[in-house]
Amino acid sequence: MSHLSAPIAASAGLRDGARIVLHTVSPDDRACIARGFEQLSAASRQSRFLMPMRKLDGPMLDYLTAIDGNRHLAVAACTDEVEPVGLARCVRLEDEPDTAEIAVTVLDSWQRRGVAPVLVTELARWADAVAIGKFRALFGYDNRAIAKLIGAAGIPLMPDGNGMLRADIEVAQILKIGLRFAAPASA
Ligand SMILES: CC(C)(COP(=O)(O)OP(=O)(O)OC[C@H]1O[C@@H](n2cnc3c(N)ncnc32)[C@H](O)[C@@H]1OP(=O)(O)O)[C@@H](O)C(=O)NCCC(=O)NCCS
Repeated sequence: MSHLSAPIAASAGLRDGARIVLHTVSPDDRACIARGFEQLSAASRQSRFLMPMRKLDGPMLDYLTAIDGNRHLAVAACTDEVEPVGLARCVRLEDEPDTAEIAVTVLDSWQRRGVAPVLVTELARWADAVAIGKFRALFGYDNRAIAKLIGAAGIPLMPDGNGMLRADIEVAQILKIGLRFAAPASA
């Protein structure tokens, strides 16, 4: 478990009654993240990494687990049995330090159950505590799931060039109204 203390809930309930356990990512999560990646469909890998991705190599796992609690934040969801469910991370932009690029991944078998709103809400709580005021999401035009999630919160989607869509999401808005129905979490 991470040495970083972050203002995130320990667990959350999904709308179908399932429970997920939440924690901040640390190098201890390498194996769990690698296992989760193995379970991701090719389509979800492509949507997340914006390129075909066959495996996560050592340097990539190092990067994905090098969470410093200021520039790079990441929240993981797993089951009570510590099986991976999903991850949300953000990395502060060097030239816009109050903005961080966000990436969210939910295992295919857990998608469409409201996991992403829970993860993003917890990440927003942590981001707010370290003065990240905005999340920037970049995704492909064919990513209907993320477009639906962001669009339902009334946030405009803009072309970003390079065939991508971009959305800037105020952290305060997420904390105020949530990204749709993030279920109440337990501390
Ligand atoms: C995008 C993603 C994080 C959403 O996670 P999630 O936990 O499934 O999100 P939700 O359960 O809140 O579902 C979001 C909405 O998208 C819809 N949706 C999901 N997959 C969809 C698809 N293939 N086509 C159309 N709508 C879809 C869901 O039905 C839901 O809307 P609804 O509740 O009105 O039905 C998840 O699909 C994912 O990990 N995708 C692969 C990686 C990725 O694209 N990450 C985002 C870019 S970094």
